[in-house]
Amino acid sequence: MSETRTTAAIRDRVEALREDLRRHEHLYYVLDAPEISDAEYDARMNELKKLEAAHPELQSADSPSQRVGGKPAEGFKKALHSRPMLSLDNAYSPEELADWDRRVHELADGLPVAYVAELKMDGLSVALRYGAASGGAARLEMGLTRGDGQTGEDVTTNIRTIRSVPLTIPAAVLKKLDLPQGFEVRGEVVMSAAAFARLNEEREQQGLTPAVNPRNAAAGTLRTLEPSIVATRRLDVYAYFLLVEGEYWPQGQQATLDALAALGFRVNPQRRLVKTVEEMSAFIDDAEAKRETLGYEIDGVVLKVDAQATQQRLGYTGRAPRWAIAYKFTARAGITRVHHITVQVGRTGKLTPVAELEPIFIGGTTVSRATLHNADFIERLGLRLGDWVKVERGGDVIPKVVEVVHDAEHPRGKLRFVFPVQCPECASEVVRAEGEVDFRCVNADCPAKLRESLLHFGRREVMNIEGFGDAVVQQLLEKSLAKSVADIYTLSPEQLALLQKEVRRKKKDGSEETKLERLLGPIEVERLLAEIERSKKAGLARVLMGLGIRFVGERTAELLAEEFGSIDALMDASAEDLERVEEVGPRIAEAIREFFTQEKNRALVEHLRAAGVEMTAEKKQRSTQLAGLTFVLTGTLPNMTRDEAEARIVAAGGKAVGSVSKKTSYVVAGSEAGSKLDKAQALGVPVLDEEGLLNLLEGAK
Ligand code: IVH
Repeated sequence: MSETRTTAAIRDRVEALREDLRRHEHLYYVLDAPEISDAEYDARMNELKKLEAAHPELQSADSPSQRVGGKPAEGFKKALHSRPMLSLDNAYSPEELADWDRRVHELADGLPVAYVAELKMDGLSVALRYGAASGGAARLEMGLTRGDGQTGEDVTTNIRTIRSVPLTIPAAVLKKLDLPQGFEVRGEVVMSAAAFARLNEEREQQGLTPAVNPRNAAAGTLRTLEPSIVATRRLDVYAYFLLVEGEYWPQGQQATLDALAALGFRVNPQRRLVKTVEEMSAFIDDAEAKRETLGYEIDGVVLKVDAQATQQRLGYTGRAPRWAIAYKFTARAGITRVHHITVQVGRTGKLTPVAELEPIFIGGTTVSRATLHNADFIERLGLRLGDWVKVERGGDVIPKVVEVVHDAEHPRGKLRFVFPVQCPECASEVVRAEGEVDFRCVNADCPAKLRESLLHFGRREVMNIEGFGDAVVQQLLEKSLAKSVADIYTLSPEQLALLQKEVRRKKKDGSEETKLERLLGPIEVERLLAEIERSKKAGLARVLMGLGIRFVGERTAELLAEEFGSIDALMDASAEDLERVEEVGPRIAEAIREFFTQEKNRALVEHLRAAGVEMTAEKKQRSTQLAGLTFVLTGTLPNMTRDEAEARIVAAGGKAVGSVSKKTSYVVAGSEAGSKLDKAQALGVPVLDEEGLLNLLEGAK
């Protein structure tokens, strides 16, 4: 049908219907206050769809009829966040909150301090980007998951199906808030308890394993490749941040939440401006009391400094703002039975006993396993097979066995658990080193070690190879396609096409059959190879983590990478060189040296290098301005501990020594300085106070 045949009347009717449907979506999905029946809504939507079908030239991506995009996505592209999506530091008690509040006041240094208390919804965060649409309006352009905080996944097609997310925002609303057409909203995607229950009912009917908790279900849903499925799952977005050009909206948090509501977003109505720790605690108590009746999961309360000027003064630590904190609710517990204990072998060969529990629903999650850490822990609990135990789920998902419960209703188990003397995976001997609690498998080629190393290597925090999970790794091992992590980089599409999975199907007569199918389709193979390729640029710190050197976790790996700048420099480092790195003591230094003396590990590094994996990092520039100068510290400095002062002198290239001589460049004296100060004066060594030292350091930058 041609443009000319669309009469003005039809055009107006289509626009009016869209306006009307947007308003009713907002009433229904955001405000929970519908004004018309579902049937009436459907009737108006059908009228709109019919008109749009008859007049294709009137179609628009922003129409309420277009929430579910036609074709499923072929995998998600990645995109850089406009500003990193950080996480929050946690507090677990009113005392910790009080400490935080004190720090905030100190650092705020006179700027106003009031907090907005919000619920901490247990979902996953997303960034929603809006851009210019016709007539001065804004339209949803992109929805990104948090990803690793720097880059997220473009899940726009799925976000569009969420009815509490406006697809367009009228020019008049933007104008009222003095907001440009381009801005970003951040918030939490959650699945309501009702939607979760419905999903699991369906899954059970289909013979599928139920989802463990609403958060996982929401995360899985958001990453589903079929938007029409996402649309049926009824996710929700609660908005909490507004950014313009990568900066938080300047009016403060309280006003931000009001603005978000005015823009049409769902904003959690449970929020309060609080000033004191008592007021924070009252809000937390209220939230905890309401927790079971909210209809969605929360795991705590978030407190945010309201005023932006104060936020800016407080600033950020590496991964979290200093101006906000998450108060995590105390663990929820339940009592259940230990059926048996299995023993898992980790990437370092460590054996970890795991309690296999009668499944129990605790805090929104079905718990069926819990770590028992080591043999001593089992001993300390006095745990026997068949015992009833108290299981706690803390702020995080990992459940803990806290104690054995023994009373009239909960009889003791009979069988004592005997820790295996052989590796459960390869039957090699297991040993416990002097002074250690853990048993380890001695077999360097234990298949479990390889499996766990591969899984570790692909993890998000390590090389971040998406799609390289249990199923793929298990198959690579079964088909002997990976003998070390370096083999990941030589996998071909043909090899990946060989991986298989078992699929259970119900036949017409009700019986079940199992069939083997390809684990990865051609698109998935391509995507996985692209992920592997991308991981080559993850950088030295992540490679170091991936190598699995004992004691070298994220932070140590980062510090080592910064210090040495390349794997070669690190491999050649002496114990002394290594110990110069902050947080590296003799034990870690020894573990690193020991790792790189093994031929096998050096060969692994060479294989990774040959595969094109980058193993360099930006080296931290060491200041050398104080090089050649020696300092002696005496007395108490007003703002710095002696350790801090020494560390800063050393970082600037200077030396801190214990006693004063003619060669001493400076004595730094605080209050109650002793004989060292006298000696300095006698020898004519210049004396500095804290400020003098700071000036010197400042000059040394
Ligand atoms: S503010 C700088 N507010 O909690 C990041 N987060 O533990 C600050 N969350 O990644 C986020 N409810 O996914 C904020 N009202 C709320 C929240 C909230 C839930 C999640 C969010 C974040 C995580 C941090």
